Amino acid sequence: MSRSPMIVRTLPALRRALDGFRARRVKTALVPTMGALHDGHVSLVRLAKRRARKVVVSIFVNPTQFAPTEDFGSYPRTWKADVARLAAEGVDLIWNPDVKTMYPAGFATRIVPGGPAMAELEDRFRPHFFAGVATVVGKLFTQVRPDFAIFGEKDFQQLQVVTRMAGDLDLGVKVLGSRTVRECDGLAMSSRNIYLTPAERQVAPVLYRAMKESATRLRAGDDIKAVLAGGAELITEAGFVLDYFEARHAESLAPIASVKDGPVRILVAARLGKTRLIDNLGV
Ligand code: PAF
Repeated sequence: MSRSPMIVRTLPALRRALDGFRARRVKTALVPTMGALHDGHVSLVRLAKRRARKVVVSIFVNPTQFAPTEDFGSYPRTWKADVARLAAEGVDLIWNPDVKTMYPAGFATRIVPGGPAMAELEDRFRPHFFAGVATVVGKLFTQVRPDFAIFGEKDFQQLQVVTRMAGDLDLGVKVLGSRTVRECDGLAMSSRNIYLTPAERQVAPVLYRAMKESATRLRAGDDIKAVLAGGAELITEAGFVLDYFEARHAESLAPIASVKDGPVRILVAARLGKTRLIDNLGV
């Protein structure tokens, strides 16, 4: 039977609720989200529940990680369905601050990450993105002070950035990555998939196919440049505008010349019509 999570919208109420958890000396896990929850988010919540007795999910569409030209205004907001999903998963608390609570008048401090945030992948195409993510996640970590925080591997560079930041700033949070959840045809689940037209939705799994075929060829010892060129061609021929299709070291995100320099991760970002999709796969 599902029970309703506590819904908290102010910092004093959040502190009171968390004091209650801490009085019971139980571990707490945080799953940061922007809502529009899908099965991928549910898998993050399930991992959180395996790690901690109390699970907090934040729902906050963070304006600072969107450029003015991006989809902050139209980002899907599905509050009622989100609460129902989280209740069904037995989440304890939903932290749902408004923009003024997160960024009060005069707010002037940003966390600007280096290292993995400068890998020339997402940062090259969305230069505003990681400072916005690091600042909001840094705030969520200090507000909730969880023992664990769970992020999806789908946003692979984000996972590296947040892990680095939590360590660098001694935030005392163990960041865990959770495997990407895919549709039956391989498309990675994403809140933005609803932007795809039915025709685009048919084409979208090409990203996964290109990564899978490339991973197979790399494992077989094919030349990395030729493999990546083949993957890129498959994607563009399907109608995408490609931002990048790259093989990188899975930990440092540094470019690699050979799979022997691995572990290797293939990372892709491409636009199909108005929708920008990202994905990645281990080799
Ligand atoms: O991955 C997301 O949904 C967001 O970037 C995050 C981590 C919740 C920060 O706003």
